[in-house]
Amino acid sequence: MPSVIIVHGGAASWNPKFEEKAKQGVHQATKLGWDILVEGGSAIDAVEKAVNYLEDHPLYDAGVGSHLNQNGEVEMDAILVDATNENYGAIAGVKTVQHPISLARRVLEDTSHCFFVGQGADDLARQLGFPHMPNIEFVTDVELMSFRKHKVEESGATGTVGAVALDDHGHLAVATSTGGVRHKMPGRVGDTPIFGAGAYADWMLGGVSSTGIGEQVMRYMLGHYAITQINDTTNAQVAATKTAEFIRTKFDDAQVGLIMVDMNGNLGAMHTTQAMPIGWVDSDGNIHSSMGGGINGLA
Ligand code: GLY
Repeated sequence: MPSVIIVHGGAASWNPKFEEKAKQGVHQATKLGWDILVEGGSAIDAVEKAVNYLEDHPLYDAGVGSHLNQNGEVEMDAILVDATNENYGAIAGVKTVQHPISLARRVLEDTSHCFFVGQGADDLARQLGFPHMPNIEFVTDVELMSFRKHKVEESGATGTVGAVALDDHGHLAVATSTGGVRHKMPGRVGDTPIFGAGAYADWMLGGVSSTGIGEQVMRYMLGHYAITQINDTTNAQVAATKTAEFIRTKFDDAQVGLIMVDMNGNLGAMHTTQAMPIGWVDSDGNIHSSMGGGINGLA
């Protein structure tokens, strides 16, 4: 089974002046994950590395560049799913961890639990040796201006980030990381760290990373819905398209997106928003990126 990887930078209304940078970011994240896969590395390492890059990139709503809550603070959520072992690690409301997806991985691999929140998650990070990163260091000028003026359109940083990979051992992993929605109430948690919503995987079917307005994704467990659309006669792209049709029956203003990989290595993507930067690798090993478009964006 050849390896595959697909990466997203968030379904949203992207300011056109940031589109080129948004594409470059997911392109580079895809390359970092792909470099691991072609060396025979694991899907978990690939999705973690891809998402770490986007967490450090100020353009995206994860890690540095996260949206601010009503107190002007960053609160971050993340989940990493290991489909092969049918397990996941998740964290929510962390304020002082540079790479939330790496903390989610340590929850998965180094604890007997699945999900840590708030101060307990930040405390766990210290116990595990993650350095303390002051909350202010996650705050970019663009997000601060947006917070002060309540002018969302000034910003280019609009997207949750995620990656799905299948390695040449047939192992599947999913990672999703976010700063949540702008001006959220302190303590609000969206879809991202919820297994079945912001990420889901079934080792017999495939894996998915979701993005968009968390309250729309989590009310309908969109990740789970998408994966259960895969069957003997469908692939990841058909399932993604069916999921877009489904969510549009639920919300006139559906603002969601997702990327998928099925166990045959097919890729899928959809977004009901104006854009969703995605990066992926074709069957010849060439890396591509686009601002979305579902199957057309993958063509
Ligand atoms: N999809 C990210 C959030 O709503 O928190």
